Amino acid sequence: MELKSKLCLVVLVFSVLLAVSSGLDYKERDPGLRQCMHQCQHQEGYDEQQKQICEQRCDDYIKQKRQEERQRRRGGGDTSFVRYDENMEQYQGGQQHQQFDQNPYLFEDQDFDTIVETDQGRVQILQKFTEKSDLLRGIANFRIGALITKPHSFVAPHHFDADCVFFVFHGRPTISMVRGDKRESHNLERGDILRVPAGTPVYIINRDENEKLFVVKLLHPVNLPDQFEAFYEGGGENPQSFFKAFSPEVLEAAFKTERDELRRLFGQQRQGSIMKASREQIEKMSHSSRSSEGLWPFHGDQPSTPFSTSSKSGPFNLLRKRPSQSNRHGRLFEADSSDYKQLEELDLQISFANITRGSMIAPFFNSRATKISFVLDGEGFFEMACPHLASQESSQGGSQRQQRSSSPSYQNVRGDLRRGTVFIVPAGHPATAIASRNNNLQILCFEVNAKDNVRLPLTGKKNVVSQFEREAKELAFGVPGREVDRIFNKQDGEFFLEGPNNQQQGRIRSVV
Ligand code: CU
Repeated sequence: MELKSKLCLVVLVFSVLLAVSSGLDYKERDPGLRQCMHQCQHQEGYDEQQKQICEQRCDDYIKQKRQEERQRRRGGGDTSFVRYDENMEQYQGGQQHQQFDQNPYLFEDQDFDTIVETDQGRVQILQKFTEKSDLLRGIANFRIGALITKPHSFVAPHHFDADCVFFVFHGRPTISMVRGDKRESHNLERGDILRVPAGTPVYIINRDENEKLFVVKLLHPVNLPDQFEAFYEGGGENPQSFFKAFSPEVLEAAFKTERDELRRLFGQQRQGSIMKASREQIEKMSHSSRSSEGLWPFHGDQPSTPFSTSSKSGPFNLLRKRPSQSNRHGRLFEADSSDYKQLEELDLQISFANITRGSMIAPFFNSRATKISFVLDGEGFFEMACPHLASQESSQGGSQRQQRSSSPSYQNVRGDLRRGTVFIVPAGHPATAIASRNNNLQILCFEVNAKDNVRLPLTGKKNVVSQFEREAKELAFGVPGREVDRIFNKQDGEFFLEGPNNQQQGRIRSVV
């Protein structure tokens, strides 16, 4: 019994460690940046402002270094994708799964920029999609990122020149928004989706005492297509309040206040934009979590009735909705504008897939939507068929023009998935995701161009091909229709299936 409880403790500690060590810790791991920051802090004779300028320079330098690194990666070297050989038995050149330097659809730790960092937390934003590849032009006006804070922290009031959609994965944030002359506060929890419209002043607390806050953000900038900025209402030196940009005489007139007093007001804050809040402050701000319009608690924890969306600006809980797909191999939760009206304007659908370890999603494609997927937990890999990369490769080869005009060829795009990885599946591209044998793979997906999108399964019970007429099957495949049926109708699973058998690890039954 004692041994058992010790074991539990070890497991608990380990899982806490895992939860705390997010995959997005590029900045913490960059020794150059750490050293540079350290030197700024300990430079003799530097006042606070000089230290900050010094740190900003470190940051700029690192960003530039990484930008150059990315350009080098984009420009140079061979394309390195795996491709099946003719008999579909092995990869050309062996099992080289790691060759993904050039994979334009996969983003990892080093592709995130830390735009805010304090003792209490950080904001990380993925590089522009088009910075990675022109093939991602279609989603150029979206950006993706994450807010990670410690327990009992406060994110200073700010607004973005971007529409923003939050998804809460860990922690219990209270998000307060100023809408016109009213303030709305919403106590959010795991699974909640909340849209924060562009230009809405917002501040956030993590009211959880123990758990880190982890919020995934999708941003849709409104000024420049692929760039957004934060504007801090409050603040002083750090974060710098935007009021400081105005001249003293203008501020004096605007506030009807002496400049000395203004200088004091806008000169105190130095803690950065994510700071520690006291228990009392957290309690006060959690208690105030009722919208002035009385919307709370009518948020989407009820089943989907026409009235569950009556909360115009409140959150919607994706994980409390009935899953649209569910079997022992996984569960899929989906929300579109009929669940959460706020998604309509952004033409967005949001889904959460929990793929059981050892299982996979049946290959499918989206008719119109491009899927931006953020891996929240677990590991595995994705595969996709892409004609763009195949044609790039053949045009580099130079002699494939005639062949290309008769029929396209498809590149196998494959990428390893783990916590913090982002991958893109463009519209029309057949793709699948497979969970490792060890852990469930949990993926949050933002599907843009969601309106009238249809998901078309390629295997399993409802696959596209089995709906063809027999003559069409025979003509298309050049084999008897029954042979086509035999193969396409064999898999009786649906959206989630048993994953590929891994020879090294043997066949392990998946567990729900
Ligand atoms: Cu493609």
